[in-house]
Amino acid sequence: MVPAVGDAADLLRRARRVVVFTGAGMSAESGVPTFRDARTGLWRRFDPHALATPEAFDADPALVWGWYEWRRQLVRRAEPHPGHRAVAAIEARVPTVLITQNVDDLHERAGSRAPLHLHGSLFAARCSACDDPAPVPDGAPEPADGRRLPPPRCARCAGPVRPGVVWFGEALPPDALAAAVDAASGCDLLLTVGTSGLVHPAAEIPLVTARLGGSVIQVNPERTPLDPVAAVNLRGPAAEVLPALVDAAWGATARR
Ligand code: OAD
Repeated sequence: MVPAVGDAADLLRRARRVVVFTGAGMSAESGVPTFRDARTGLWRRFDPHALATPEAFDADPALVWGWYEWRRQLVRRAEPHPGHRAVAAIEARVPTVLITQNVDDLHERAGSRAPLHLHGSLFAARCSACDDPAPVPDGAPEPADGRRLPPPRCARCAGPVRPGVVWFGEALPPDALAAAVDAASGCDLLLTVGTSGLVHPAAEIPLVTARLGGSVIQVNPERTPLDPVAAVNLRGPAAEVLPALVDAAWGATARR
């Protein structure tokens, strides 16, 4: 059992409105790489300027589409872990808004109803020219990382279809951001899980809660800039800490 889990469980049991705020570390134990891990992080192995900006897509749409198709296939093969299911168990117990920076669908597959995807989704796509939503191909051939795959064409205007994710230099989806700020302002407890807290404006969400007097619990094996803001820092991996937290708050039956 992680030290301090009892303190966190007390806060969770007493909370009337909860926000769970997740980042790439939430999915790490499902086999989905984070961005900034020193060894396996995506931004250690790949150049974000060449893959995750509108300019990169304009310059080489097949390189960018192929890379996102590789990530989509990786996520399709991954399964949610007990931490994702513990988040769904919290939602079942107390009014909760789940805000995620992740573009995977592991929260949904673990039973979370309607996560706010602040950075978009691998399973949404739209035309880069006219913005019309476009279907994400189902059985596309699996490219190796770095292999080009030409994007589909928009059914309306024949423009190249782009991934429905937020790229560097782009604004967050305004409705999701407004709902996230609203939830963070109105909750009495925010649980931040598996985020480095380095990418803005998403990183400000826990600060909104803290500034307004709500409590913040952090789950992360490493130190982050959010450490001083958190009332309790649970230093461990999400797949272990979150189930332990739910069990300590409500007993093991809460996760069934
Ligand atoms: P990062 O890769 O920056 O940070 C991942 C965090 O997860 C780190 O603090 C790790 O210590 C922690 N971590 C690793 N394994 C963990 C585990 N098993 N359990 C809990 N925590 C663990 O990922 P994000 O903070 O999500 O943006 O990155 C934010 C944004 O940067 C992403 O949404 C993405 C990226 O550029 C866009 O694509 C727009």
